[in-house]
Amino acid sequence: MIRVLFNKKGGVGKSSLTVNLAAIAAHQGYSTLIIDLDTQCNSTSYLNVSDKQPDSSIADLFEQSITFHLRRRPASEFCQQTQFANLSIIPGSPRLAELESELDSRHKIYKLREALESLKEDYQYIFIDTAPALNFYSMSALIAADRCLIPIDCDDFARQGLYSLQQKLAEIREDHNEKLEIEGIIANQFMSNANLPKQIIDELIKEGFPVLPEYLSQSVKMRESHQVKQPLISMAPKHKLTQSMVRLFKLLEQE
Ligand SMILES: Nc1ncnc2c1ncn2[C@@H]1O[C@H](COP(=O)(O)OP(=O)(O)OP(=O)(O)O)[C@@H](O)[C@H]1O
Ligand SMILES: [Mg+2]
Repeated sequence: MIRVLFNKKGGVGKSSLTVNLAAIAAHQGYSTLIIDLDTQCNSTSYLNVSDKQPDSSIADLFEQSITFHLRRRPASEFCQQTQFANLSIIPGSPRLAELESELDSRHKIYKLREALESLKEDYQYIFIDTAPALNFYSMSALIAADRCLIPIDCDDFARQGLYSLQQKLAEIREDHNEKLEIEGIIANQFMSNANLPKQIIDELIKEGFPVLPEYLSQSVKMRESHQVKQPLISMAPKHKLTQSMVRLFKLLEQE
């Protein structure tokens, strides 16, 4: 099952959720892969993997499609085992930015789908982290994925962005990927003691958005976890936010 975490709004938790949901899947024994499609490489560095290793990032995988190679390397050669059991990553790279216009002009939008198709046998869960933009790479991810998860930070701008996002996803479904489904909106950095976040979420539910019924609270543990480069399930398995993430994963697992 291939899931993409996407929202054009920045800082809503795409990378944090990609890494933590994937780490929980891996912890539960599923072979799991993360694809880091963001030039910021936040998922890659969160897992303490370098984005500077030559020839082994997602940029190299894409680059193969626009340069001549005697032997095209299979996608599996780009997957690196992390220090966590069952968890691999195709690391991000700042070089993605340099390649983007050429990949786009040479119509390589289906290359990621092809690559992931060949990895589906090896990985039970694939999570794709994207940049806060609908660029060539996030389009590629939405074309490759079975499901899309949309984290929001429960403020009003986040809600406004959802309408255009919903429209764009419908268009991608129609033109490129009929199986693409909005699996759920994830309410992240939810503050249960404030009125506005609750009001925003309630309105979204009323309007029919599939808000997942597990809201993730705001906690400094998340920043600490980034700092020590360990997902929550490994750093603080009993913490309230970790437990909430585990329940969220369970909701996805059951579908
Ligand atoms: N539940 C949470 N509680 C506290 N802080 C959080 C939570 N979720 C995310 N954060 C913090 O918010 C910031 C943004 O998170 P993250 O980088 O995951 O978002 P993003 O959507 O990937 O951002 P970008 O659009 O830049 O890629 C980070 O500093 C992260 O530590
Ligand atoms: Mg990010």
